[in-house]
Amino acid sequence: MIATLTSLPRRMWRAIVGRLRPARRSKYPRRIPGLTTLAARLRLGFGAQPLSVVSGSDRGPSIHRYYLDLFMREFAADIHGRCLEFQNDQYTTRFGESRVSHLDILHKEGSGTSKQATIVADLLAPNDLPSASYDAIICTHTLHIVEDPPRFMNELRRLLTPGGVLLLGVPHVAGIQPWWHELWRFTPEGLAWLGARSFGAGNVTLRSYGNTLTAAGAMRGLIAAEFSSRELGLHDDRFAVEVCLRAVKA
Ligand SMILES: C[S@@+](CC[C@H](N)C(=O)[O-])C[C@H]1O[C@@H](n2cnc3c(N)ncnc32)[C@H](O)[C@@H]1O
Repeated sequence: MIATLTSLPRRMWRAIVGRLRPARRSKYPRRIPGLTTLAARLRLGFGAQPLSVVSGSDRGPSIHRYYLDLFMREFAADIHGRCLEFQNDQYTTRFGESRVSHLDILHKEGSGTSKQATIVADLLAPNDLPSASYDAIICTHTLHIVEDPPRFMNELRRLLTPGGVLLLGVPHVAGIQPWWHELWRFTPEGLAWLGARSFGAGNVTLRSYGNTLTAAGAMRGLIAAEFSSRELGLHDDRFAVEVCLRAVKA
């Protein structure tokens, strides 16, 4: 019997062991199908307190992250070769897949923790990062916390190779997370202007995502799963939840 078991192919072993192991607990609270969504949708109109103070990210994948995924999916082909991302690899690995040959994770010293950081540097201070090092820079939820956004954009441009691409996203309608010392919000026009200032107007593409319903939802702590794809898919610049910029170094 033992001999029969040990001769099973590895794939079959994995399947058997996987079934015996207890299912991995989700990092999010348990949802009761239908009911959790209904209760959350009702909460859009009642009570001054939100369901979450971190834009729903403690309840499930947030509306901001849903929109960032749309942006990254559209421009996934830009994520290739030598890449740089901030704090962790949440977009480069998922959307760059095998096109990525090298990935650096940058984190500013003293700004919270990053177990994944391979480079610790302040891009607003003199640093020894070589120019023209990266084919792609993925910079999400960072520009709104830096003290000097125009200088930061110039520095991102310096780090790109000619033809290299910056994919950047910032929250527009969102609660403030004070521990990150959030300083700014960028309107779609403001981010396009800032991108054009560093990269040239012909080299930037802007995307803004969201509408009054999903903006209200993000503020109230609702998550992407609590809206239909039709509701999430209506985009009205005036009420953008997430604003994203693709910029190419000419
Ligand atoms: C709020 S975290 C967001 C990171 C992550 N990309 C995300 O989407 O959640 C901001 C990141 O920007 C970095 N950062 C902030 N100011 C910086 C600066 N002046 N130079 C370099 N990195 C900076 C922080 O260290 C941190 O890794």
